[in-house]
Amino acid sequence: MSNVKSSYCFDDVLLVPKYSDVISRGDIDLTSYLDENLNFRLPVISSPMDTVTETDMAVAMNGSGGLGIIHRYNTIEEQSSLVYLAREICGNVGGSIGVSGDYLERAKALISSGANVICVDIAHGHHAMMRSALRALRSTIGIRAHIMAGNVATLEGFNDLADWGANSIRVGIGGGSICSTRIQTGHGVPTFQSILDCSQSDRDVGLIADGGIRNSGDVVKAYSAGADFVMLGSMLAGCTEAPGEIIHVDGDMFKSYRGMASKDAQIGWRGHVSSIEGVSSIIPCAGSVSDVLSDIETGIRSGLSYSGAHNIRELQSRSSFISQTSAGSIESSTHINNH
Ligand code: XMP
Repeated sequence: MSNVKSSYCFDDVLLVPKYSDVISRGDIDLTSYLDENLNFRLPVISSPMDTVTETDMAVAMNGSGGLGIIHRYNTIEEQSSLVYLAREICGNVGGSIGVSGDYLERAKALISSGANVICVDIAHGHHAMMRSALRALRSTIGIRAHIMAGNVATLEGFNDLADWGANSIRVGIGGGSICSTRIQTGHGVPTFQSILDCSQSDRDVGLIADGGIRNSGDVVKAYSAGADFVMLGSMLAGCTEAPGEIIHVDGDMFKSYRGMASKDAQIGWRGHVSSIEGVSSIIPCAGSVSDVLSDIETGIRSGLSYSGAHNIRELQSRSSFISQTSAGSIESSTHINNH
C-alpha cells in the first residue's frame, strides 16, 4: 500500500461568511447550464430511482425550474410513455438507460418520446462498458440529446467520461442515504471530496453532485465546491409526486425509498439478487415538490448571500472552506438537547 490520502465529507467543512452586498435573496440568479441549449432556473435534478422519479415527479421538477430523470427499471414501452406524458404536460425531461442489453433501443425510444436528456446510469461509471456504451450512443443518436453519465468518484473517471462523449457527469460513489456500496465493497470517496477533485477538470462538461445531500447547506457546499447541479434522492422521495403509495405507521405517514441495488429493488426489476449494495427503507411524507424545493431554494439563496455571491459562478470563485473538528461539527448542528 502506498500513502493514504485524506478526504473530506460535507460535515467536515464549513463555508466562511464573506462581505456581502446582496440586498435581497430575490436578486440572486441560480440559473445553471447542462449545455448551451439546456438551462435551469433551479439546478436540482431528481434521481432516476423507482421510488423517486416517474411522470409526476418530472413534471413537478420542471415546474419548479429543475429536471426529473425517469428511471429505467421498467419496460421500454413503460418508460417511454412516462417520458412522453411528462414531455406533453411541459418542458424538459430526462430518461435513464443502462450499458448492456436493450440500452440503445431504449435510448432511441426515449428520444422519440421527447426526452432531451439521456442519463447513462450505472453504479461504477468509470468502466469499459461505459466507454463502449457512450461511443455506441454517440454514433447512434449523434448530438440529438444531451448525454449525462455516471457515477464516478475521481478526476480521472470524470475526464474519461467527458472524453468518451458525456455532456454532464454524475459525481459521487457510495455516499447516498440508501447506499451500502462502501460496506459491501470497501470502495468509495466522500461525495464532497469527489466534487472538489472533479471540479479541477478542464473538460467543458457539467458536474452533477449526487449522493448524500441532506439539506440546503449541503447543496450550497456542493455548488461552492464546483458542482453545477445537485441530484437528490432522499430529499424528494417523501414528496407527494414521488411514485408509490402512502404507508401508515402508528398514525404517521411514510413513503417507500429504496436503493436500486437493494435486495427489494433487485428482485423487483431483475427478478434475482446480485451484489446487494443498497437498502430499502421508508421515509416521512414531505408534501409537494414545489414546497420542498421552495424551502431548499430559500436556503440556497441565503447561502449565496452569506458568501456575497449573486450567482453560482461567483459563489464558486468567492467561497472558501475551512475544516471543522468533531466538536465543531456538534456546535454546527442544533445542540440544545445536549445541555
Ligand atoms: P441520496 O443521498 O440523495 O442518494 O438519497 C441518492 C443517490 O444514491 C445512488 N444510489 C445508490 N447507491 N446503492 C448505491 O450505492 C444503491 O442501491 C443506490 N441506489 C441509488 C444514486 O446515485 C442516487 O442518485
